[in-house]
Amino acid sequence: MKLHIAELSGDGIGPEVTAQAKKVLQAIAQEFNHKFTFSKALVGAIAIDKTGNPLPDETLKLCKETDAVLFGAIGDPKYDNDPAAKVRPEQGLLKLRKELGLYANIRPVKAYETLLEKSPLKEEIIRGTDISIYRELTGGIYFGEKKISKDGNSASDLCEYSKHEIERIAHLAFNAAKTRRNKVTLVDKANVLESSRLWRKVVGEISKQYPKVKLDFLFVDNAAMQLILNPKQFDVILTENMFGDIISDEASVIGGSIGLLASASVGDQHALFEPIHGSYPQAKGKGLANPIASILSAAMLLEHFGLQDEAELVQAAVERSLKLGITTSDLNTKQKAVSTTKVGDFIQDFIYHPNDSNQNFTNIHLGQSTII
Ligand code: IPM
Ligand code: MN
Repeated sequence: MKLHIAELSGDGIGPEVTAQAKKVLQAIAQEFNHKFTFSKALVGAIAIDKTGNPLPDETLKLCKETDAVLFGAIGDPKYDNDPAAKVRPEQGLLKLRKELGLYANIRPVKAYETLLEKSPLKEEIIRGTDISIYRELTGGIYFGEKKISKDGNSASDLCEYSKHEIERIAHLAFNAAKTRRNKVTLVDKANVLESSRLWRKVVGEISKQYPKVKLDFLFVDNAAMQLILNPKQFDVILTENMFGDIISDEASVIGGSIGLLASASVGDQHALFEPIHGSYPQAKGKGLANPIASILSAAMLLEHFGLQDEAELVQAAVERSLKLGITTSDLNTKQKAVSTTKVGDFIQDFIYHPNDSNQNFTNIHLGQSTII
C-alpha cells in the first residue's frame, strides 16, 4: 500500500516521540512491502514562532492532500499563563480537527498485565480493563460561541450540539461495540444540561438499530468515579467533547502512564493519529518521554487503512518492550530506564526480527553483556 503521511510533530516532546513512530512505520513499510512517504509541516507554538500562525495555510493544505496525519504534541508554557495571549498553540490543533472534519476521537484504554503494579490503582480493580472511548471532537463547548464582556468581568462559552453531530459518532461507537463486548455507555450530564438531554434522546433512538448492543447511561460525575472504582464495567464509552477530554486523562491512570495512550481522530474524509498526552515541555530534548503512545497511534493508523497484521506486529513489539522493561522512566526505575530513542530502536528491531531471543535484544539495546 502507498500512503503519504503528513508529519506534524509540533511542540515540546512531540518531535522526539513522533520520530519513533515514524521509524516504526518505516520498518513496517520495509517488512510488508508498503511505500510510506512523509512530509513535515509546522503546527503549534513552533508555527507561531516561525509564521505567527499556529496552523499555517501550507500545513492545512498538506493535511488535506495527504492520506493521514501523524501528530505529535502541542502547547508551550509561555502561553499557558497568559490569559491575554491572542494566538495560542492549541488553536492550531482545534482548527485542524474542525477543518479536516475529525469528529470522532477514539482512545483505547487497556490495563497491560505486565504494568498492573505501575498504576496507583489496585491490581484487582484494573486487571482486564479494556475500554474504547469515543469522544466527539468538533462540537460542544470547545467550538461554541465564546464571549467576554467589554469590561472583562464576565465571560461565556456555549455548548451546542446538533442531532447530526451526535448521530454520526454514535453510529461509530455502536459499530465498534459490535466488534467488542456489545456495550455502549453514554456519559453525559442530562440531569442538568439541555445538550446532554439531546444526546440521550438521539443516542437512545439510534440504539434501536443495534439490538445486540446494550446501551447504558451515566452522569459524568458518576462516570468519573466508576472509572476508578470498577473500570471493567466499561466497553465503549461514548461522550461529548469536553467530558471525553477529561475522562480520558483520568482513564490513562489505569494503564499506568499517560505515555501509553494513543488516539485516532477520524472523519468521513481524513484521519489524524496522535498520543493523548501533551507537549511535556520540561522533558523536551532530554530523551525522557515515553514514545509508546505515539507508536501505538501509528498502529491505529495502520489499522485504519486495514493493515491489521502490521498493526498487530507493532502492538506485539510494544508489549514485548513493556514485558522486558525496555521503558522510559515513567514506567521504570531511574537505574533501568532507557531513552525515548532506545525504546523506539527496540520496537523497530522487533519488527525486523520478531522471533529473535528476547534476552539478546535487551542486552544489546542496553549496551550490556550479551552473555546469556
Ligand atoms: C487533547 C488535548 C487537547 C484537547 C488540547 C491540547 C487542545 O488536551 O487532545 O486531549 O483539549 O482536546
Ligand atoms: Mn486532553
